[in-house]
Amino acid sequence: MDLEKDPPLLEVADLSVEFAVRGGAVRAVNGLSYTLREGETLAILGESGSGKSVAAQAVMGILDSPPARVTGGSVRLRGEELLGLPERRRRAYRGDRVSMIFQDALSALNPVFTVGDQLAEMFRAHRGMRRREARDRAAELMERVRIPSARRRLGDHPHQFSGGMRQRVMIAMALALEPDVLIADEPTTALDVTVQAQIMRLLADLQDELRMGMVLITHDLGVVAGVADRIVVMYAGAVAEQAPAAALYARPAHPYTAGLLASVPRIDRGGGALHPIKGAPPDPAALPSGCPFHPRCPRAEAVCAAEVPPLVEVAPGHAAACHFAEEVHGGN
Ligand SMILES: Nc1ncnc2c1ncn2[C@@H]1O[C@H](COP(=O)(O)OP(=O)(O)OP(=O)(O)O)[C@@H](O)[C@H]1O
Ligand code: SF4
Ligand SMILES: [Mg+2]
Repeated sequence: MDLEKDPPLLEVADLSVEFAVRGGAVRAVNGLSYTLREGETLAILGESGSGKSVAAQAVMGILDSPPARVTGGSVRLRGEELLGLPERRRRAYRGDRVSMIFQDALSALNPVFTVGDQLAEMFRAHRGMRRREARDRAAELMERVRIPSARRRLGDHPHQFSGGMRQRVMIAMALALEPDVLIADEPTTALDVTVQAQIMRLLADLQDELRMGMVLITHDLGVVAGVADRIVVMYAGAVAEQAPAAALYARPAHPYTAGLLASVPRIDRGGGALHPIKGAPPDPAALPSGCPFHPRCPRAEAVCAAEVPPLVEVAPGHAAACHFAEEVHGGN
């Protein structure tokens, strides 16, 4: 196979993003790399502030610059570099090839227009459809995301929908143009648990149906279980560990991942006492030396504060950025 002819669907390599602030720089993303394959669900997991949303916005090309600045790396869609494309060409990708679902549907949708108008506008602007046809497509989409009385509800404004239904509208907007890549940034955190499960099921079904690649961003291990094919664990704006989902759960190779797993109740372990990770995530304006996790790491040794650990492959497709990844993975 000629690899040049078959690049991954989405390839993020060594991506770095800084914010210029008074007195210095906030290093929100620090050399993040991952790939997403066709039809795959990749979960990006990390604590609040680990750079998940900033990285996603850099991939989408929607960071406000300034204050944000992409200081390095590349974002390729089927081999084509997106960083540095002129805004006019970049815009053609958004919605059409890559689209994004945001955590807060209410602020992402326009409060002034009905959802029918907002959906129909996508088809009119991007597909050149006439009014009637665009309206029909909007109704189909609302049905597809299982909004009851879809056609009638086209005339409602975003605030007239419940949180869960509004998130469905947002999913409909994101999927309208059948993108190749869908980035879902904490799509269910604002919802209650039952509705969360319904929305995750819907996303998984639609992803299957449309064969798109999905990047699912969350800080909730519970959301990831059963949905993700692979998981990238982010810490301080970089990859701490990446692995097929089952392998990551069964045998983590990074002490941070092990800590995350120990901090959630698991039915297979009979619930049991929880052990939250001690300490707070690092301040991206003043990152620790060496391994960014060392001030909180129960395994840390002198080398950890001195040297940045490389990403070590412990099994095929399973790698961790830890000086002791092999031992952690081996259970020592
Ligand atoms: N406009 C900005 N100016 C300065 N710093 C910013 C700005 N936007 C984000 N940051 C910083 O970048 C870091 C990463 O933020 P980001 O929103 O990506 O985190 P996150 O992983 O998505 O967290 P959460 O789970 O809370 O959504 C944070 O420390 C944040 O304070
Ligand atoms: S490199 Fe050291 S501090 Fe970092 S995770 Fe591994 S053991 Fe812990
Ligand atoms: Mg976020």
